[in-house]
Amino acid sequence: MGDFEGAKKRMHEDLPTSSAAQGPHRTGSPGLHIRPATRADLDQVIALDEEVTNIAKPDYWRSLLDRRPGPEQFFLVATEAGASAARILGFMLGEIRAWEFGSEPCGWVYTLSVREDARLHGIGQALFDAMSDEFRKAGVSKVRTMVGRDSRLHMLFFRALGMMAGPYIELEKEL
Ligand SMILES: CC(C)(COP(=O)(O)OP(=O)(O)OC[C@H]1O[C@@H](n2cnc3c(N)ncnc32)[C@H](O)[C@@H]1OP(=O)(O)O)[C@@H](O)C(=O)NCCC(=O)NCCS
Repeated sequence: MGDFEGAKKRMHEDLPTSSAAQGPHRTGSPGLHIRPATRADLDQVIALDEEVTNIAKPDYWRSLLDRRPGPEQFFLVATEAGASAARILGFMLGEIRAWEFGSEPCGWVYTLSVREDARLHGIGQALFDAMSDEFRKAGVSKVRTMVGRDSRLHMLFFRALGMMAGPYIELEKEL
């Protein structure tokens, strides 16, 4: 786990100038590497998602990785650097949505998972920072996500990254 030490401190320092579609993110941490997901990552992404959600969704992940992502869709994975680069430590999905709910285009973070044995080492934050960097380069200045009111972990995580309650509330109805 020593490879991850210090990962939290370095994220703002050395994010890349290339887009996720063009190449990997350099995180500034020698132990951590962030890059766009590829089809070769599929099995690990499916396994990690199943570990977290207890539901295997191979078709869902396959369809995401099979289709060519639009210029405003991002699927990032974090791996160890060097010899262990094939081992995925976490992933994040994000997308820029335009004019949702009458708002200006902004980035949405949809899904985020970090391998249990790699948590609390700044990997979630690194993925969030890399995603924010992609959003900024695509020209938007706000990032949003949705969390359960009673999901303490998600609240703690996103609040720690500077996110606060926004101007919208979710409405729903039983059908
Ligand atoms: C939520 C999750 C992605 C966080 O990833 P992580 O790599 O452990 O998070 P980081 O180490 O980058 O933490 C960043 C900050 O979030 C907060 N945080 C993260 N996990 C926390 C926890 N278990 N308890 C309290 N605060 C926590 C901390 O403030 C932390 O910064 P600090 O350590 O300097 O205080 C990870 O716990 C996870 O994958 N959980 C299961 C899947 C999930 O719930 N995904 C999100 C919804 S789709």
